[in-house]
Amino acid sequence: MASRRHLVATLLLLIGSVAAQNGIECPFPGGTENGGGVAECSLYTACLWKGSECVMQNNGDIGYTVAGDPQDTGRGFKVGLDLIDATKTLFGGDIPGLELEVIYHEDYHVQVKIRDAASARYEVPVPLTLPAEAGTLPLYTVEVAAAGQPFEMSISRAATGTKVFSTVGALVYENQFIQFTTQLPSTYLYGFGENTHSRLRHTFEPRNTWPIFARDQPVGTGFMNEYGHHPYYSVVEDDAGHTHSVLFFNSNAMEYSTFLLSDGSPALTLRTIGGIIDLHFFFGPTPEDVNMQYAAMIGTTELPPYWSLGFHLSRWGYKSTDHVREVRQRMKEAGIPQDVQVIDIDYMENSRDFTIGAGNWSDLPQLVEELHSDGLKVTLILDPAVVIDFDNYEPVVRGRDADAFIKWMTPSLVPGDQPAGTNDYMVGYVWPDNKTVFPDFLKPETQDWWAQEIALFHQMVPFDSLWIDMNEPSNFGTNLDKPSNYPDDLEPWSLKCPFNFLDSPPYPTKMTRVGFSRSGRISDRTLCMSGAQTNGNDSYLLYDTHSLYGWSESVATHKAMELLFPGKRQLVLSRSTFPGSAPYAIHWLGDNEALWDDLARSVIGLIEFNLFGMPMVGADICGFSGRPTQELCARWMQLGAFYPFSRNHNAKNSPDQDPAVHPQVAEISKDVLLLRYKYLPYLYTLLHDAHMGGSSVVRPLYNVFPRDVIARDVDDQFFWGTGIMVAPVIAAGLTERDVYFPEGLWYDLASGARVSSLAGLVNVAAPLEVLPVFVRGGTILPNQAPATTTQLSRENPFGLTIALDSAFSAEGALFWDDGEYDRVMTYTSTFTFANNTLTSVVTNGQDELVGLSFDNVAFYGYPSNPTAITVNGEALDPSTWAFEEAIGVLNVKIDVPLDVSLDIQITV
Ligand SMILES: *[C@@H]1O[C@H](CO)[C@@H](O)[C@H](O)[C@H]1NC(C)=O
Ligand SMILES: *[C@@H]1O[C@H](CO)[C@@H](O)[C@H](O)[C@H]1NC(C)=O
Ligand SMILES: *[C@@H]1O[C@H](CO)[C@@H](O)[C@H](O)[C@H]1NC(C)=O
Ligand SMILES: *[C@@H]1O[C@H](CO)[C@@H](O)[C@H](O)[C@H]1NC(C)=O
Repeated sequence: MASRRHLVATLLLLIGSVAAQNGIECPFPGGTENGGGVAECSLYTACLWKGSECVMQNNGDIGYTVAGDPQDTGRGFKVGLDLIDATKTLFGGDIPGLELEVIYHEDYHVQVKIRDAASARYEVPVPLTLPAEAGTLPLYTVEVAAAGQPFEMSISRAATGTKVFSTVGALVYENQFIQFTTQLPSTYLYGFGENTHSRLRHTFEPRNTWPIFARDQPVGTGFMNEYGHHPYYSVVEDDAGHTHSVLFFNSNAMEYSTFLLSDGSPALTLRTIGGIIDLHFFFGPTPEDVNMQYAAMIGTTELPPYWSLGFHLSRWGYKSTDHVREVRQRMKEAGIPQDVQVIDIDYMENSRDFTIGAGNWSDLPQLVEELHSDGLKVTLILDPAVVIDFDNYEPVVRGRDADAFIKWMTPSLVPGDQPAGTNDYMVGYVWPDNKTVFPDFLKPETQDWWAQEIALFHQMVPFDSLWIDMNEPSNFGTNLDKPSNYPDDLEPWSLKCPFNFLDSPPYPTKMTRVGFSRSGRISDRTLCMSGAQTNGNDSYLLYDTHSLYGWSESVATHKAMELLFPGKRQLVLSRSTFPGSAPYAIHWLGDNEALWDDLARSVIGLIEFNLFGMPMVGADICGFSGRPTQELCARWMQLGAFYPFSRNHNAKNSPDQDPAVHPQVAEISKDVLLLRYKYLPYLYTLLHDAHMGGSSVVRPLYNVFPRDVIARDVDDQFFWGTGIMVAPVIAAGLTERDVYFPEGLWYDLASGARVSSLAGLVNVAAPLEVLPVFVRGGTILPNQAPATTTQLSRENPFGLTIALDSAFSAEGALFWDDGEYDRVMTYTSTFTFANNTLTSVVTNGQDELVGLSFDNVAFYGYPSNPTAITVNGEALDPSTWAFEEAIGVLNVKIDVPLDVSLDIQITV
């Protein structure tokens, strides 16, 4: 089989001479955007000045040659690569001999690793699920240049011959700098994060460079690296919508650059400052296939507990338990659905984890019980940093006993002013009233200690879920005189990082020039790279594992919650994420602002995290910092009602912005959240699909319509699954908006009225109280009469919204279970409407269904008033249905238990 998969090219024409003309940018540590020029260019012997730019020398003059013939490994092949000219370098430390290994996985999945042939380098310790055997009908072919030729590699889609990855120019592989460039088959490039992208689709002209490295960096423009690390992209290759995706499995500080080659073709440069090249390619062929294939490798999302699909209310700056009570009362009086009350660090004593603030917060346990009896769940925040008050704070003492904290990599780096009792731990400062140390969550002993502290805390406060914030990890004022919140009466102090190869790497990436970056170093607002972590067997440099911190804390926290709530599904909300986080945590998009632009960009963030395999995602509704206008907050509540994770949250010192504050916003929020709650069974079914098979929940239009070229640029609308399309109003002062409708029939979700035109842009009315949201013809949406909590709505009757396509047919499914426990046998029903007959197939009717039934079916796009309707063989009385001729909606009242198959026949 191997020969079918890789063709070792015997001849590659003129590769070397094309490269320089192609203009692969020579990377300047301070950035090329500010000039740099010929003088700086001359510092790098691997570069040359060409016209007005500094470019990499030709492949063949620099880079690697293929050292011999490929060796079959049974799962692929290996081939050596030899450095061509050790005198030509960017930053030195070029690896003389590399080994390229191609590993065939599933038919849709191939991996390419390039390592140091002589010694091991850091590889990402996050486990992946890989198949035991290769597939037999690969969707791809791999070509590598022949022995003796400059290294070149391309990977093609077998069915079309499209080169999805095709190296351009020389490979650079230095100890602390790796760079390669690929031509892309099209400009339909999506993904990479965590960054705030202003458009979903990437652009190539002018060149754009984005850093990736976990950082406590609020969202916004300016090419900033933010909380998570997701070096993953996908490309729609052609008009037919063939799509592939690529994971660059590397956790070091990196950047990606999009630009046009001199022949006009789109290209992508990837640079990292550590680790190895480890690429996973997924061949789809559809955009949704790619999502499922990627999620199968990194781990699918946990199915969130049903209550977490409800509305979450949060803020930083609740003044007391009474303040929370007041807000909750206001929400109830306004009739606004709410399932979760979230409490930020305000509840703690001096911002210390596992404590309850004296005075205003001392009755927190009682508040939690009250909220529980009110049908709500409670989420509490935890930060990773642990205060070093060894005399008065037991968690840190027990943590030190477990040796649970991140250390300096060598004792010689421990600062002279190291606080007493902190051993060789790296000491920083965050929210608490004293300096802190940071748990090493990779370490089994740390995970045990963390679980124990969480369990002890739960004995004090019976919270339901945890929000783990600040886990990039964030440290204030690193390398500065002092953190901005450091006590004024103390000698200024901050964590200061050494100037060594780790904390002052030769190429610090663009991250040092964007966003906060107050110290201009890669350790800005975080711990020093010269730290050490261990998983018990292997030790790691923080330089390499920095971006895994949020992932490792998610794993540890999830384990702790499993011990606390055996058999239950957990909700852990994490700010920092990495590929592999989804089974352990959900995500929100971080600190945004009460701005229309941030509202608009949240749609892009939602879609991107669904590409990254983390479907349970949302942004802070109404904006975290700043004060929203009532209009903005109303529009954001409407959009946020269709965030899978729907939470309103704001910052300290801003006034309350819960939806009940202002009567008009309250009314709008109530209506739109009741619409959300009505369709939660559909959202739950989609999340269950995501859990089982890795599908996405929030989808861009091109995902549902891959051949629709216009849809590939639409990023102010999105789908839930393939059935509901949301078109939020994203700017001020509007009472209408243009909505792009791909081919098909479309109906207003709430009224069932048909959208009056065929494919294309349609102007729809959107007065402030209206969120434009549509259902696609051909879809059956399960629903349930809404209530103000899911505890109540889960008792209500179910219904089906049946939106007909042009053949008067539709299909859908419903997943249901008890909402909290992991079960093997759970209820699924699939529905088909065709030829005027609705049928369902029920599997695994269970006891939790007792008392639940369907009480209505609504047909959208029905042509005429029926003469007769039978349900499971019995004729209905005509008074049980109503036909609204003007909008073509047929409402039928039925009464059929959920676990009984439906058979509804309509006679026209
Ligand atoms: C304590 O709670 C009251 C009532 O909510 C509030 O007015 C006061 O500012 C709070 N005190 C502090 C220190 O937050
Ligand atoms: C931390 O605790 C020590 C010992 O109680 C105290 O001297 C110091 O002022 C505290 N605060 C900070 C910010 O270190
Ligand atoms: C450490 O090594 C032991 C023995 O090989 C293994 O069972 C364990 O899973 C390893 N732990 C980690 C975190 O890799
Ligand atoms: C609907 O009727 C047509 C023509 O009788 C038949 O071919 C088709 O299979 C039917 N579809 C279903 C779902 O019963």
